[in-house]
This record gives sequence, C-alpha cells and structure tokens, in this order.
Amino acid sequence: MTTRPLEGKTALVTGGSRGVGAGIVARLAADGAKVAFTYARSADRAKAVAAEAVAAGGIAHPIHADSRHEQDIEAAVARTADRFGGLDILVNNAGVGSFAPITDLKIDEIDAMLTINVRSTIIAIREALAHMDDGGRIINIGSINADRTPFPGQSVYALTKGAVSSLTRGLAHELAPRGITVNNVQPGPIDTEANPADGPFATALLGVMATDRFGTAAEIGAFVSYLAGPDAAYITGSSLNVDGGFTA
Ligand SMILES: NC(=O)c1ccc[n+]([C@@H]2O[C@H](COP(=O)([O-])OP(=O)(O)OC[C@H]3O[C@@H](n4cnc5c(N)ncnc54)[C@H](OP(=O)(O)O)[C@@H]3O)[C@@H](O)[C@H]2O)c1
Repeated sequence: MTTRPLEGKTALVTGGSRGVGAGIVARLAADGAKVAFTYARSADRAKAVAAEAVAAGGIAHPIHADSRHEQDIEAAVARTADRFGGLDILVNNAGVGSFAPITDLKIDEIDAMLTINVRSTIIAIREALAHMDDGGRIINIGSINADRTPFPGQSVYALTKGAVSSLTRGLAHELAPRGITVNNVQPGPIDTEANPADGPFATALLGVMATDRFGTAAEIGAFVSYLAGPDAAYITGSSLNVDGGFTA
C-alpha cells in the first residue's frame, strides 16, 4: 500500500470554492490531508468541491467565512483546528483583482484588494499559528504581478501581491525556529473565472509568455501540495513562480 504524502496532515485553504483554490483543495485532499476551506459567496460551488474531494477518497469541509471580516477568519481557523485536532498547513488563496488605471479605481475596489489580498492573509497566519505545531507550512498565493507588471491597470493589485511577497520573507525568519516554512506561490495566467484563457487579456498575456497556454488550477495545486509536504522542508521565504515563462 502506498502512503499518500500528506496523510495525517490537516489543512485550511481560503477561497476554495472556485478556481485556483478549488484546485488546491482537490490536490491536498487527494494527497491525504484533511482539508477545510472557506468560501464567501459560492455556497453551492463549495459544496460541489467538497463532494468531489470526498468522492475521490479524500476529506474536505467547506466553511463560510468572508475574508473581509476578522471574526470570520478567526472562526474558520478555530473550527478547522477543533474539527481536525490541529492545523498543519495554511494556504492563503482568497484574492480579488480590479484592473483599471489608478485614476479610475473606486475606493471599494482598492479596499477590497488591500483587505482580502493582504489584511486577511496576515490575520489568517496570526490565528493559525496558535494551532500550528512545529514543522507546519504556510503557503501564500501571490502573483507574478508582484515581480512583473507589464500592462497598465495592474498597479494596486501588484502592490498587494508585493506585500504578500515581503510578508513571506519576514515570516520565514520569524518562524524558522519552529520549523515552520513560509512560501509564496506566484502563479502566472491561470485559467479561472477571474482570468479566463479565452478572456479579453488572453492574447496580450500569451504574447509575453514562453509557453502558448494558460496554466491550470490543478498545476498550482500540485505545486502547493509539494510545498506542503515533507520534501520541501528546506524551502522557506521564497516567492516561487509557476508562470509558463511569464518572467522568462
Ligand atoms: N487566475 C490567475 O491568473 C491568477 C494569477 C495569479 C494569481 N492569482 C491568485 O490566485 C488566487 C485565486 O484566484 P482565482 O483566479 O482562482 O480567482 P477566482 O476564480 O475569482 O476565485 C476566487 C476565490 O476566492 C474566493 N474569495 C473571493 N473573495 C473572498 C472573500 N471576501 N472571502 C472569502 N473568499 C473569497 C472566492 O470565493 P466565493 O466565490 O465563495 O466568494 C473564490 O473561491 C487569488 O489570490 C489570485 O490573486 C490568480
């Protein structure tokens, strides 16, 4: 019998109801982790993600928690730890982007990017650490736009993902004494509802990439699962691109 690499581990993924997050939930569960994941609006989608993971022999549990609210994040972490008896892996995936020149951005759009992409990540990590044993894993989902922002209209989104990259580096030092690694996965264009492979930006994006296709949520899930596993103990403080050569 083969042992799955994350057997016995517990995980919380924020924003697991769709897109990249759903791919991460599916892979962590398939690799043996007990996975809780949050959603805000897509309750039916969240149920379907959980049902698919269970049908594939895994454990996945949806939790309604809006990343804009501190109490929701605290409750999601606490519920995960209570239900599974601890928390080994935190994946901060929930994120939003509003893409427009800075002169056109509304205050609600700016607040949403700062709150969901940055503030909620800080809060989730702070809460998770109360439950995480030595050897835990924190994996943030940043963006390649932290390093490369070739098109107008991406500046504030890029700022939020740059903040995630900086947070990752600082925390790596803070948490290394506990054997907890902190990494930042920076996807390039991934085919999701937020950035469809046949969407309005696709031609421009493919024009600056080495590969001729968008990535998939499953490809991000596979890399996150590797970082969450025992073979990745020496990787920490890194921002790691999974981007089809977007930065090549
Ligand atoms: N797709 C790409 O090309 C790409 C590239 C680089 C980085 N990323 C990053 O990858 C992550 C996922 O992106 P995606 O493309 O999968 O986006 P998506 O398809 O729009 O999915 C976003 C996910 O985040 C959740 N979410 C949004 N607001 C939330 C809130 N307030 N509270 C809790 N959950 C919330 C959504 O849940 P509900 O539907 O339930 O609200 C959904 O599950 C983001 O951090 C994004 O910046 C994506």
